[in-house]
Amino acid sequence: MDVIIKGGTIVTASDQYVADIGVEGEQITRIGQSLRANGARVVDATGMYVIPGAIDAHTHLDMPFGGTVTSDDFETGQIAAACGGTTTHVDYCLQSVGGTLHEALATWRGKAQGKAVIDYGFHLAVTDLNANVMAELPAMVNEGITSFKCFMAYKGVFQIDDATLFQLLEQARELGALVNVHAENGDVVDLLTKRLISEGMTAPRYHAASRPLEVEAEATHRAVALAELARAPLNVVHMTCEASVRHVNEARARGLLDIHGETCPQYLLLNVDQYDEPDFQGAKYVMSPPLRDRKENAFLWRQLAAGNLETLMTDHCSFRMSDQKSLGKDNFAKIPNGIPGIETRVPIVFSEGVGKGRISLQTMVAAMSTNPARMYGMFPKKGCIAVGSDADIVLIDPKRRVVLSASTLHQHTDYCPYEGLEVEGYPVVTISRGEVIYENDQFVGSKGRGKYIKRGQYQAP
Ligand code: URP
Ligand code: ZN
Ligand code: ZN
Repeated sequence: MDVIIKGGTIVTASDQYVADIGVEGEQITRIGQSLRANGARVVDATGMYVIPGAIDAHTHLDMPFGGTVTSDDFETGQIAAACGGTTTHVDYCLQSVGGTLHEALATWRGKAQGKAVIDYGFHLAVTDLNANVMAELPAMVNEGITSFKCFMAYKGVFQIDDATLFQLLEQARELGALVNVHAENGDVVDLLTKRLISEGMTAPRYHAASRPLEVEAEATHRAVALAELARAPLNVVHMTCEASVRHVNEARARGLLDIHGETCPQYLLLNVDQYDEPDFQGAKYVMSPPLRDRKENAFLWRQLAAGNLETLMTDHCSFRMSDQKSLGKDNFAKIPNGIPGIETRVPIVFSEGVGKGRISLQTMVAAMSTNPARMYGMFPKKGCIAVGSDADIVLIDPKRRVVLSASTLHQHTDYCPYEGLEVEGYPVVTISRGEVIYENDQFVGSKGRGKYIKRGQYQAP
C-alpha cells in the first residue's frame, strides 16, 4: 500500500466506525483494523472524522456574467475547493446564444485544461435549443455530460421558454440524463426590476424585492409539472423557501421519486436583512434567488435533515466588491449576481449543521458527497469510502476552531459573506485519488493534476 489513513472515524452516508483505510495508487484497496504500514505513508487520523471528499456540483468558475467574468478560475477556485474539503467538482458550461454545444464544451474544457487541481466534470446549460442543438445532445452524453441545465430566469441572457425546458426534459429521459433548473419566473422578475428602477429604488435591498419568493415558487411548480408530463428526472437548484420546496415534496409524496431539490449554505445561514448593510455592503449578498426571512433558514435545515433536500452545493459564483459588484453602485440590476462559497461549505455545514445538532454526520455526507455522486453519474467511483472507490478522502478535525475571513481563505475575492463567523471543526487533510493535496494549512497539490470525469447516467439518490 502507498498510504494508510490510520485510526480515524470513517463516516459514510449510512455508517460511522473506527478503521484504517489502505490506498494503493489512486484507489482505496483495504478498510480494516490495524493495517500494517510496510513502508506506506501513514496519515494519522486519530480523533478525526474521515469523510468521502465533498462534491461541489454547482459552481460558476471563469464564467462571463453580468458584464464581467467570475473572479475564480479553475485554478484558484479548485485550490480553494481542495483547501475546504472538496475533491470533485462539476461546473456549469454555458452554450452561447447561437452557438453549438460542442463549442461550449470545447470552451469549458479549455478553461480547465492545465489548471484543474481536483477531478471535474461539466453540466451543460442549454440557452438556445433548436433542431441542430437537440441533435448534439446524445454526443454530449457520450462525452460524459449527463446533466443539463435550464435557466427559467435572466431574461435576455440565459432564460429559456417552457417549450425548451419540456423538450430538454424529454430528451434527458431518453438519454438517462438529469435536468437541473434555476426556477424563478424571469418575465415577472424583469417587469418588477424595471418598475423598481423607474421608481428610483436602486439600492441592493431592492434586488430582493424584485424577486419575491412567489416567483421562485411559481417556477418550481411549473418545472415540476413539466417534468411530470415528460416523465423525466428534475433537480431544482438553489432552493430558498418553503413555498417552493413544498412543490418538490408534494411531487415526491405522489410517487415522483426523481424530483429533487438542492439548497446552499447561504440560504441556511444568511437572511434578507443583510441587504440593508450600509455603504453598498448589501451588494455582497446579491444573488438569485435572493436571501429570504430567517424562518426560511430554519425550514431549510429541517428539510435537509429529513432528506427532502438531497444535495447541498455552493453555487459558488464569485465577484470582487471593488470593481465587479460596484458595477451596480447606482442600480441593483447591474450588480453581478453571485456569492463565493466553494471553500467554506464543508466547515460551515459541519459546524453550524452537525455541531449544532441540526443534521447528522450521515446527512452531511449524503448531501455533499454520496447523493450528488449518484445523481451526477459518478457513484461509486466518487462519493463513498469503499474498496475500489477513488481515494478521495477528507479528514475533519472536530476541535479545530477557525474564524472565517477573506484574508485567510483561498477564494479569489475581496470579501467573505461569513466574515468573522467562528466555526468549530475544519478540514485539515484533503486526499485526491490517493495524493495528499492539502495539509498543514497549505495546498500541496499541483496545477493540472485534476482529471476530467466522464460521468455515467443519472441514478436516484
Ligand atoms: O446569483 C447567482 N445564483 N449566480 C449564479 C448563477 C445562478 O443563477 O446560479
Ligand atoms: Zn441559478
Ligand atoms: Zn448557479
